[in-house]
Amino acid sequence: MTAATPSGMLTLTDSRTGKTYEIPVENGTFRTMDFRQIKVSDDDFGLLGYDPGFLNTASCKSAITYIDGDRGILRYRGYPIEQLAEHSTFLETAYLLIKGELPDRERLDAWTYNIRHHTMTHSNIVKFMDGFRYDAHPMGIMVGMVGALSTFYPDAKEITSEASRKLQVRRLIGKIPTLAAMSYRHSMGFPYVLPDNDLSYAGNFLSMMFKMTEHDYRPNPVLEHALDVLFILHADHEQNCSTSAVRAVGSSGVDPYTAVAAGCAALYGPKHGGANEAVIRMLLEIGSVERVPEFIRAVKAGSGRLMGFGHRVYKNYDPRAKIIKKIAFEVFEETGRSPLLDIALELERIALEDDYFISRKLYPNVDFYSGLIYQAMGFPLDMFPVLFAIGRIPGWLSQWTEHVQDPEQKIARPRQIYLGEEQRDWAPIEGRLKCRTEECVMTSCRL
Ligand code: CMC
Repeated sequence: MTAATPSGMLTLTDSRTGKTYEIPVENGTFRTMDFRQIKVSDDDFGLLGYDPGFLNTASCKSAITYIDGDRGILRYRGYPIEQLAEHSTFLETAYLLIKGELPDRERLDAWTYNIRHHTMTHSNIVKFMDGFRYDAHPMGIMVGMVGALSTFYPDAKEITSEASRKLQVRRLIGKIPTLAAMSYRHSMGFPYVLPDNDLSYAGNFLSMMFKMTEHDYRPNPVLEHALDVLFILHADHEQNCSTSAVRAVGSSGVDPYTAVAAGCAALYGPKHGGANEAVIRMLLEIGSVERVPEFIRAVKAGSGRLMGFGHRVYKNYDPRAKIIKKIAFEVFEETGRSPLLDIALELERIALEDDYFISRKLYPNVDFYSGLIYQAMGFPLDMFPVLFAIGRIPGWLSQWTEHVQDPEQKIARPRQIYLGEEQRDWAPIEGRLKCRTEECVMTSCRL
């Protein structure tokens, strides 16, 4: 919803009581607290909204990211994603998201300097990292390590101090690639690589990931640019699952490291940050272009989903997918064409002409081609959600900053509809229902 939607009054008549209410509508929204006055009796609690998954509930007012899912529009602070992907860098985009405006040269230089000088981690971080099993999932490591950062920076608890908030933002953007690369090198048994502040943000990350014995690692500029653009495309996406987690946990007043660790935890899930990995597994399972029609038939018959297709908000081509598809071809020029690309192109071609997908408005989303690029660059599948997390850090932090400064916000605390037992009295153990008998109602206890 936007401020452009006209304001007015909603007139409601409660058929239970015959009473009529005037509910203000502003920005295409009513306040569900205004429904609390709608009661059937004086001791009635009042009307609640019921919205599992928050399909039709705005949790905040925000000036950061705008999405129009029907028209395939995504803008950060008003700037179309296409323009940022073409002309901006990830660090400049991070500045835009967090501070609200594009920086001039002096500000961008100072911002870049500040981020680069926070890329090192405390040496005790290595001890934490070494404690994880050799096969620990890098995203599980990230959840733990980002949370652990809060113990190194107790000053981060001062969330009402602007100076402290700015410092934690710089630290987090600076350190995330270092932790991410360490999580990969730990799983490979490779020694950790220190940050190289002569390189760009994406270039330094590639160095910390892939540098081996070479004295002077220089990233491939095409891959470095592609990664930077992928970070820009993932930088924010308004109130998605992980951002909502950051805001909800942050609403308790906890430090930003702990709030962002909650974002990492949410992103770990296969329905969110794990879909790009699922696309690669699906393409591998299909195996050849010839088998695509058979796979599409199976999806239509209900035997699974076309991964990387469909989106809760976009009912049109995801604008990020268009940009990523173009980058995929640039990357493959360098790395050689992935045999999976032809399968993906054929899937997309058939799906976009098929009434099943057209009628449900299912189009490629951000994950359809991003996994192919990551794979071509040499990232293992487990690292895909970690790459998503690096890109999303400025989004989480800008949303957290907006949240803690919003005077209307309170601790996140949804209500529920209680459908359980009425009050009943405790019974001695001998008098309770016996397990594994016909009268036992606890069918799920599995004793
Ligand atoms: N393949 C086949 N059918 C699909 C797909 C798909 N990828 N997505 C939705 N449908 C069908 C679904 O079966 C349903 O059909 P019907 O009306 O006959 O029952 C209809 O389309 C609506 O589906 P829905 O599950 O109600 O839609 P949703 O908005 O709740 O789900 C989604 C959105 C992204 C979870 C879903 O499209 C999906 O599972 N896509 C595949 C996974 C994927 O690519 N996820 C990445 C999302 S983008 C990255 C991110 O935001 O984290």
